[in-house]
Amino acid sequence: MTQIIDGEALAGEIREGVADAVAAFESEGVTPGLATVLMEADPASETYVNMKQRDCEEVGIDGIHVEVDADAPEAALFDRIDELNDDDGVHGILVQMPVPDHVDERAAQAAVDPAKDVDGFNPENVGRLVAGEPRFRPCTPFGIQRLLADAGVETAGADVVVVGRSNIVGRPLANLLTRRADDGNATVTICHSKTADLAAHTRRADVVVAAAGVPELIGREEVTPETTVVDVGINRVERDGESTLVGDADFEALDGYVDAITPVPGGVGPMTRAMLLYNTVLAARRQTGLDVPLP
Ligand code: GUN
Repeated sequence: MTQIIDGEALAGEIREGVADAVAAFESEGVTPGLATVLMEADPASETYVNMKQRDCEEVGIDGIHVEVDADAPEAALFDRIDELNDDDGVHGILVQMPVPDHVDERAAQAAVDPAKDVDGFNPENVGRLVAGEPRFRPCTPFGIQRLLADAGVETAGADVVVVGRSNIVGRPLANLLTRRADDGNATVTICHSKTADLAAHTRRADVVVAAAGVPELIGREEVTPETTVVDVGINRVERDGESTLVGDADFEALDGYVDAITPVPGGVGPMTRAMLLYNTVLAARRQTGLDVPLP
C-alpha cells in the first residue's frame, strides 16, 4: 500500500496554529501584516496571489495587496517595495515571481528588507541559508521538510535526489536538507535537465523530490517500491480534450507501487501557502519582540 501524504490536512493544522498566534498578537494590540506584490499580468500568478490573500483572511493576518502595472518601469516596483519596507504594519513582503522581462528579478528580491523577506529570496537571506543559518526558510522547501517529518520520513542519513535546480525549490531544499539539524542530515543530489542518466540517480534514492516543471517526468522507471516521492509540480495539460492538473510525477503509475507519495493537488501546494503564513507570524514576532508561540 502506498502512503498518500496529505498536505491539505497538515496545512490546515498549521493554519490553525497560525490563527492562534495571530490571536495572541491581537491581544497585544498587533495585527501581523503580509503584503503581496504582483507585477506580471499572468493568470496563474494572479490565482496564487489571490489564494495567499484568502489564506491571510482566514487566519486573521492583515493582507495588503499591491499591483504594479506590468508595463511600468522597474523603478515603479522598487518604489512600492520601499514603501512597504517602511510601513510598520507590514511584517512580511512577497514579490510574486516571475516579474516582467524588463525587471531585474535579483534586484527586485534584493529590494525587500531582509527582515520582512518571508520568501527568503533576498541575497543576504540566501547567503544565510547556504551558510546553514536561514533567517526565513523559503516556503516550498520548508513545507516539504514539514511534510516529510509529519509522514515519519527520516531525513538523517537518507539519500535524497532533488530533480530541479531552481532558486525557489531545488537549491534551497538541498541546502536545508544537508544542514546539521533534526530535519536535515541527508545526503542530497541535485539532478537537472542536463543530468546524463536521471533514473540511475533517482532509483537509488530513498526520497525523490520532483521539481523540474516537466509533467509526469517521474514514472515507474525512475523509482523503486521503497521510494518516497514528493511532487512539487503543478502543470496544466490537455487530456482527452480537457484541461487538467498534473504533477512532475505520474501519480496514477506510482500509486500502489512506491512507498509514499504526495498528491497533486493536495500535497506540497497547500504546505507552501501555510509556511508563508508561518513565516509572516515569525517575522512579526521578531519585529515586535512579542513572545508569541508558533505552530
Ligand atoms: N512564484 C512561484 N513560487 C513562488 C514563491 O514561492 N514565491 C514567490 N514570491 N513567487 C513564486
